[in-house]
Amino acid sequence: MADKPLLNTYGRLPIIFDHGQGPWLYDTDGHRYFDTFCGIGVSGLGHAHPAVTDAICKQSVKLLHCSNLFHTEVQHKFATTLCEMSGMDGVFLANSGAEANEAAIKLARLYGHNRGIESPVIVVMERSFHGRTLATLSATGNRKVQAGFEPLVSGFSRVAFNDIQALETIAGMNQSVVAVMLEPVQGEGGVNIADHQWMRDVRSLCDRQGWLMILDEVQTGNGRSGHLFAYQGFGVKPDIVTTAKGLGNGFPIGACLAHGDAATTFKPGHHGSTFGGNALACAAALAVLDTLRNDRLFERAGQLGRRMLETLHREFDDADYISDIRGLGLIIGIELTSSCPELVPLAKTQGLLLNVTAECTIRLLPPLTLTDDEADYMIERVVRVIKLYTGDDRPRVVELDNDVTRH
Ligand SMILES: Cc1ncc(COP(=O)(O)O)c(C=O)c1O
Repeated sequence: MADKPLLNTYGRLPIIFDHGQGPWLYDTDGHRYFDTFCGIGVSGLGHAHPAVTDAICKQSVKLLHCSNLFHTEVQHKFATTLCEMSGMDGVFLANSGAEANEAAIKLARLYGHNRGIESPVIVVMERSFHGRTLATLSATGNRKVQAGFEPLVSGFSRVAFNDIQALETIAGMNQSVVAVMLEPVQGEGGVNIADHQWMRDVRSLCDRQGWLMILDEVQTGNGRSGHLFAYQGFGVKPDIVTTAKGLGNGFPIGACLAHGDAATTFKPGHHGSTFGGNALACAAALAVLDTLRNDRLFERAGQLGRRMLETLHREFDDADYISDIRGLGLIIGIELTSSCPELVPLAKTQGLLLNVTAECTIRLLPPLTLTDDEADYMIERVVRVIKLYTGDDRPRVVELDNDVTRH
């Protein structure tokens, strides 16, 4: 199937998917594939989770949408649950991660203007990713994302990730800083995990300077890190946290949550979205939160992640083509010593959907609902594909066996 009539913005594999179930995706030719990255961290409960499907069906016959100039019960219930579970005071509802981050950036600028800062600056990180809109790609620390879209939005200053000295230096030099924005685990940047001490130091510096601490948990949120939000495991509380991806398990929704002074900064007219927080999205996301909590999936993500890391370390203990294996909950990075984009089509031939980010890091973002057997199956397959690719395991090459009729 050709890209046309879609504009050519993605490098796609030649597979046409028809439906999904749990960690599996089924194509129109009768093959099934194990989805190791859940649509880049979206389907955290697996494909076609019955609680989400049921909530969408029930809400769809009641009310899809009404203007944010009115209230709906489901929006109120979802927002209340999200704030209770996160410990935040309020939330702005959007439709995607980039939109949630746009809200956070606007909020931080307004917070600065309210304090008499004419040109507020937000400090962002090298190797970060915050989205593809103009403000969020300007905040992103990857030239490839920005190139060709200049002039970039001004008002961002960049420092190295996990480097408190760099932030201290900016604090001493720049009186216009209003916020620091970072991902607790840089997903697109190669699964780079924040140091616990650095996170605490950033929090203290923000407190000292009167800066807002903004966490982008678009990818790490919604249970993936082993907590609803990763900051709950780091023992810090941000002023603003954004999320999207797993929040609707595939139904588009984004959220910008705020705490303390940040939560009272926006006033009517400052920000808005026609679709943001519509009844259908809120019903889906409420079902996700209920399922995460009732099925204790935060703990499960932590357990599964540890189990997978153990096996990976054992398998690749003395492999000279692996430079690092790291993870937090169910965000796992396997970094190879060289660029490995060809792993993706190779994995496809083995019935595995694999994601490679930052050139040489395999990023695993599997569902939080995996059984132990499914988790072991996935890791065994991932290991096999890597060994196949690197030539470490030629004798164990197996035939493709993902014909659905055989399962
Ligand atoms: C950390 C982070 N922030 C923001 C985004 C952008 O989210 P969206 O694609 O929903 O706009 C992403 C997407 O990968 C992300 O990983």
